[in-house]
Amino acid sequence: MASSHNHPHPHHAHGHDYASANQAFFDQHAHEADQRHGAGELAKDIRDAILQAYKFDDQSTTLLDFACGTGIVSLGLAERCKKVVGVDISQGMVDQYNKNAAERDISSQALRIELKGEDSELDGTKFDVVMCSLAYHHIQDIVSTTRLLSFFLKPVPCRCRQSDDCTYPWSVTSGDSGGV
Ligand SMILES: C[S@@+](CC[C@H](N)C(=O)[O-])C[C@H]1O[C@@H](n2cnc3c(N)ncnc32)[C@H](O)[C@@H]1O
Repeated sequence: MASSHNHPHPHHAHGHDYASANQAFFDQHAHEADQRHGAGELAKDIRDAILQAYKFDDQSTTLLDFACGTGIVSLGLAERCKKVVGVDISQGMVDQYNKNAAERDISSQALRIELKGEDSELDGTKFDVVMCSLAYHHIQDIVSTTRLLSFFLKPVPCRCRQSDDCTYPWSVTSGDSGGV
């Protein structure tokens, strides 16, 4: 796994609104996010790790990409999935994700939403795999966010793991007992 993690970061005010700070920062930087050095290689490493952790089936697997950014990771998984949905707090990132999907003729869509874990969200869809890459270090409360993400998994036994080390900055929650 590549260890590079060289994008600029929003300045997080202590105890203040991380979500708003992230939204403003990533709106501003969405257009250049994929140009950061080594981004393509890192995205491929993350995809490879995800594909090792879960047996994808292009006829059935549904994937939710939380904090999806431009889709540099999950759009590359679209051909292995029946459906991919991206969600992000930044409209700039969502626009870039949807532009990238359209340019590659991929039907996956991203939505700007701050998920709360309610039945009405995402049309009530539950997913086989919920992924989050390069974003947990931007999240204020990773325990409740992990709990929130598990709400969107199909109801089968799951195990979750997240890295608290920004040099190994990806995490996957999977609805399958083989997930990480
Ligand atoms: C460094 S980017 C990573 C994007 C993508 N996952 C990737 O691997 O390239 C971090 C992303 O997290 C998003 N983000 C930060 N806080 C968030 C939150 N509370 N809810 C949803 N997205 C969030 C940002 O808008 C940004 O798109």
